[in-house]
Amino acid sequence: MIGKIVGLGSYLPSKVLTNKDLEEMVETSDEWIVERTGIRERHISDPYTESVSQMAVNAAKEAIRDAAIDPEEIDLIILASTTSNMVIPSCSCVVQRETGAKNAMCFDLNSACTGFLTAYNTAQSFIEAGHVKTALVLGSECTSNYVDWTDRGTCILFGDAAGAAVLRAQESDRKNMFVLHADGRRSDCLYAENMKQRKDPEELIPKTFFQMDGKEVFKFAVTAVPQIIKELCTKFSIDKDEVDLFVLHQANRRIIEAVSKRLDIPLEKFPMNIDRMGNTSSASVPSLLTELKKAGRLKEGTKIIASGFGAGLTWGASYIEF
Ligand code: ACO
Repeated sequence: MIGKIVGLGSYLPSKVLTNKDLEEMVETSDEWIVERTGIRERHISDPYTESVSQMAVNAAKEAIRDAAIDPEEIDLIILASTTSNMVIPSCSCVVQRETGAKNAMCFDLNSACTGFLTAYNTAQSFIEAGHVKTALVLGSECTSNYVDWTDRGTCILFGDAAGAAVLRAQESDRKNMFVLHADGRRSDCLYAENMKQRKDPEELIPKTFFQMDGKEVFKFAVTAVPQIIKELCTKFSIDKDEVDLFVLHQANRRIIEAVSKRLDIPLEKFPMNIDRMGNTSSASVPSLLTELKKAGRLKEGTKIIASGFGAGLTWGASYIEF
């Protein structure tokens, strides 16, 4: 058994923050941001109407419509988020309530920007083991809640979004093919702490915003992503030249260009929406897949390698066939 993606959906907040807007907030320029990151604009959620759970519900409804299934058929909901608005219950339970998926088991997970791939492969493992036939997998992020809007090194990078995929069990000769890694020793490269953990506000507050060593994360990404894609191809005898699309976490255009170069694969095979969305963490891969489907670029049999990387440090790659 393997889970086939039969439905995709996404949600983007309506408010757009352009590089020009950021020029009014911090000392930066549209030219610098575009040259160093490829980002031109990002979407910023409304805290009252576009929380992580609300955006996830919207993306989930679109994916369920796209899959043309009854929500009661869903056996499992896994939602990946680093910026969840809920402590309890999990956002996945909110998605269950709002979509009418009353037969699903639900849980959230946090694996930063590798979150969607981690959730996707967890769902695949439930399907392979025969516990689940239909799964809903989501990535939803309000990164804007954790961004220090006075720090030009980070505030230009992030955006908000949600994406969702419905997986359906199908008989198959092949197993789900994936590789996931983590290195907690390097957690200080990129972190944010929870608001209520400490008493001393002076010490606490700066740490509740994303703290990032941009250069270290950049070096890690351009090394780890080509390595893990090669590892995936070797482990499962995949010919990288036969892969149609490489759907990478959208963190920085230069990272994607470097991966394409290091793997010697044409950049045209690396679709991007970073220019319009910025880094939406676990929402980036499912949102991009949704865009590709709407653009008619995902056909029966289209071969994809998806890869995510981020805080933890964590990184992963999956082979997905449509
Ligand atoms: N506007 C103008 N100048 C800036 C800005 C800005 N927004 N930010 C930094 N600068 C300046 C710096 O102060 C520095 O000036 P100096 O030379 O006078 O000291 C100069 O620009 C160069 O700064 P660098 O940090 O060296 O710039 P770099 O080319 O490394 O780009 C960036 C920075 C875009 C953050 C890059 O390092 C990067 O993308 N890193 C990866 C980050 C990432 O992907 N993080 C998310 C991971 S996924 C997750 O889990 C959330």
